[in-house]
Amino acid sequence: MTNYQFLKPYTLRNGVTIANRIAMSPMTEQSSFEDGTITSDETAYYNLRAGGVGMQITGCANVNDLGKGFEGELSAAHEDMLPGLTKLANAMKVGHTKAILQIFSAGRMSNSKILRGEQSVSAGNVQADRPGAEQPRALSTAEVEETIMDFAKATQLAIDAGFDGVELHGANTYLIQQFFSH
Ligand SMILES: Cc1cc2nc3c(=O)[nH]c(=O)nc-3n(C[C@H](O)[C@H](O)[C@H](O)COP(=O)(O)O)c2cc1C
Repeated sequence: MTNYQFLKPYTLRNGVTIANRIAMSPMTEQSSFEDGTITSDETAYYNLRAGGVGMQITGCANVNDLGKGFEGELSAAHEDMLPGLTKLANAMKVGHTKAILQIFSAGRMSNSKILRGEQSVSAGNVQADRPGAEQPRALSTAEVEETIMDFAKATQLAIDAGFDGVELHGANTYLIQQFFSH
């Protein structure tokens, strides 16, 4: 058999070895319940794709309620998500596959419909350069600190659920990116 490099294990600097260099990229499939609770459709989706790839990364999960960006999105915003997140991690950790929970806040890339009447938040009150974008309100300094803690709490929840790691979603125009690129 050809000695393909991408099928060889890769050891991260923290000492964790990934069985191969294939990762399933995060893809939001909007299969959660309205409050972000995991559905059996969702666990089945990841379970079907686990076992071969070295690593699976979930679609983004919001770290707090104002961070929700899509209907049917995964949530890591509350302790009571732990049982569902545990089922999800177990469905993903098949064979050698590592399970990674992607965590984020959508910031201004959400809207008052998804946020059930609340205004979206961002680094400032500048709306996204997208058709139909709503004007966000600027997070206060205290809220920025709280948001950082929400990322920390979501990470702890992921650890408690049995995930092998988290990915901070700092791209694709969401909250983290909004702080350095308007
Ligand atoms: C339906 C769909 C949902 C996606 N959801 C996410 C997501 O939740 N988080 C993320 O970081 N990227 C997301 N992406 C981006 C993909 O992970 C990937 O980076 C992108 O599709 C580029 O890879 P490709 O050229 O192979 O499609 C999504 C892409 C698609 C098509």
